[in-house]
Amino acid sequence: MQEFYRNRRKRLFELMDDGASLVVSSPTEKYRNADTTYPYRQSSDVLYLSGCPEPETTLVLKKDKDSMRSILFVRPKNKEREIWDGRRLGVEGAVNQLGFDEAYPSHELGKRLAECLSGSSTVYAQLGEDSGFDKKILSALKNCRQGKRKGLEPIKNISDPLFNLHEMRLIKSKDEIELLKKAATISSRAHVLAMQHAKAGVHEYEISALLDFEFTKQGCVGPGYQSIVGSGQNATILHYIENTSELKEGELLLIDAGGEYKNYTADITRTFPVSGTFSPAQKAAYQVVLRAQKEAIASVKPGMTLDSVHEQVVKSLTGGMIELGLLQGSVDERIADKSFRRFYMHKTSHWLGMDVHDVGLYHEKGSSRPLQAGMVITIEPGLYISEDEEGIPPEYKGIGIRIEDDILVTEQGFEVLTHEVPKEINEIEKLCRSDCNNLLS
Ligand code: GLY
Ligand code: MN
Ligand code: MN
Repeated sequence: MQEFYRNRRKRLFELMDDGASLVVSSPTEKYRNADTTYPYRQSSDVLYLSGCPEPETTLVLKKDKDSMRSILFVRPKNKEREIWDGRRLGVEGAVNQLGFDEAYPSHELGKRLAECLSGSSTVYAQLGEDSGFDKKILSALKNCRQGKRKGLEPIKNISDPLFNLHEMRLIKSKDEIELLKKAATISSRAHVLAMQHAKAGVHEYEISALLDFEFTKQGCVGPGYQSIVGSGQNATILHYIENTSELKEGELLLIDAGGEYKNYTADITRTFPVSGTFSPAQKAAYQVVLRAQKEAIASVKPGMTLDSVHEQVVKSLTGGMIELGLLQGSVDERIADKSFRRFYMHKTSHWLGMDVHDVGLYHEKGSSRPLQAGMVITIEPGLYISEDEEGIPPEYKGIGIRIEDDILVTEQGFEVLTHEVPKEINEIEKLCRSDCNNLLS
């Protein structure tokens, strides 16, 4: 395991300029009240380069012509605190278990950071996210400038984007693809369970709990983002996370949920009828989204761009909106005046990896960048028809549909990582109606 992270640091060193340093740090633990914290999730940058999940961790990489130093600041061992809050890796663990060249207690960061960064040609640090972190970088900058007599040298540049690190994270290695596949398989099964268990009278939060149970039972830490379980009109709210309503006969249920397995998350959406049978209007709208999604997936290959995928989806969905009578006129007219946005207001894809909206640039020199083998993306078209819409056939009011799969770009084209959850109408209906030993009775 140590090798796994050490190799990543080595690869990053190779991409860094001579004399450059990089600093990444944990987010601060947030207190909910008294001594109770919100659930903690390490920064994916820190995890990617060290595997250390603990708060108060700062990682410094420094590249000099003939030397590379990797330094980790971590919480020191502390018998009493470990009795209350849990085990700590400690300074020795950072060297022995994680393979860092040097390690120091986190409370020495302020004192030592200037010395670590002294004379750097560039310091890569993501400023503007956490004022505590910003202060530490700025104070190291000042200390280096003012510490000439102590042997410190000024830092020449501060560079905000962690460009190389995020480009590395964007192209997934074999190991990472395996972890994403595992997250996808676990999450697909959880969606299948949800389809089998959803029925009128069950609440959205029960479905959410069922997903959490299945994620965790299969080895995930939990969901990789807050699950969206939206029935009926709730499905037209893009980031609906209240999950409080009772499912009703005749409604659709939209579930957008993915488990996080060893720091990598899936991101899947399926929409299906609570009763097990689509109404004619639900079926017609679903077919419009499904057609757009399948065409978009089929177009994925190296060289394609996410903007082209999106344009293609917009064209297909707008055609569908006209077929359904939601819009009038021609596809070109409705795209030109952007009226399709009444029913499809988000983009079609994002990068996926350790974070659900993963890092990496989407554009290069103002143009959508070509896809490359090893990138993992989502394709997630939808139709969201509010109850309040005027001048549309009434049977479509309150329908929200999204279908989302996780797609690995391969040399030959693509691989759908989430293929185990059905999305064809007949398969969904069969699964929703299938007998199961219902846990939610
Ligand atoms: N679950 C968030 C998204 O689909 O982008
Ligand atoms: Mn998504
Ligand atoms: Mn999603």
